[in-house]
Amino acid sequence: MDYRDKVVWITGASSGIGEALTYAFAQEGARIVISARRAKELERVRQACPAPDQILVLPLDVTAFESFAGAFQKILNHFGKLDGLVNNAGISQRSKVVDTSLEVDQQVMNVNFMGPVALTKTVLPHFLARGTGQFIVISSVTGKVGIPYRSAYCASKHALQGFHEALRAEVHDAGIRITIVCPGYVATQVSINALKGDGSKHAIMDQNTAEGISATILAQGILQAGRKEKAEVYFGKKELAGIYLMRFAPSIARRIARNIKVR
Ligand SMILES: NC(=O)c1ccc[n+]([C@@H]2O[C@H](COP(=O)([O-])OP(=O)(O)OC[C@H]3O[C@@H](n4cnc5c(N)ncnc54)[C@H](OP(=O)(O)O)[C@@H]3O)[C@@H](O)[C@H]2O)c1
Repeated sequence: MDYRDKVVWITGASSGIGEALTYAFAQEGARIVISARRAKELERVRQACPAPDQILVLPLDVTAFESFAGAFQKILNHFGKLDGLVNNAGISQRSKVVDTSLEVDQQVMNVNFMGPVALTKTVLPHFLARGTGQFIVISSVTGKVGIPYRSAYCASKHALQGFHEALRAEVHDAGIRITIVCPGYVATQVSINALKGDGSKHAIMDQNTAEGISATILAQGILQAGRKEKAEVYFGKKELAGIYLMRFAPSIARRIARNIKVR
């Protein structure tokens, strides 16, 4: 996939990985739709791009499913087509199962799973009609392993992967490609924005997150993976070992998970 003049829709573009991806795709000459809830931050990102007139700011809450058809119509009115959707918007969690309200489980699932599913289903008929299209899905190492204090988050990322893995099988012959991305720790606002069990913000920059890989480097890797239409890619540091341990030595992975000290 050559992204020059392609139209790519990136969610969660107001911060972190989505912001870095916007700059990476903009450098490639793509035309980009950027979405998140904070319109002011999206405008800041647009202005920082090399050709701001090629960027459409489209404020969107990924849990407002009923607004997606109208939002997509705005994209078609503006650019006439869509070539790629990057399902990146997400929220994390920092609480034990026993301390987490069902409302928080629901909210994490809505942002990280139901929102991306509804967005994917909104654009899928357009991709099928054109016989081309790409979904880039930002999952996580926690889409492959379960770790304490992240039950809803792990569940949402496992579900996100399962859904898009099934979709991949359905649409491969229709010319549609799916790249699932599993980052480890990335230095963004994710832990600050994470929800505690009562729904309040964790509001702490976790050490693992602060010491994670940079969003800019990750965005270059994702761009490369998308260009090569890779099915699944992992980016991070030593935490990536968890994926391989879970695959080849699950009892060891589970023992390590039991001993992870996280808040
Ligand atoms: N950082 C990591 O260590 C890490 C590791 C693996 C995977 N990830 C995944 O990477 C993705 C991006 O996270 P990040 O690290 O860049 O975190 P971040 O800096 O907190 O950014 C999260 C983005 O998601 C948007 N968002 C949150 N709730 C939303 C909603 N209801 N509707 C629309 N947009 C919403 C936020 O924008 P608004 O607040 O403006 O809506 C923001 O742009 C997430 O899916 C996350 O799970 C992160």
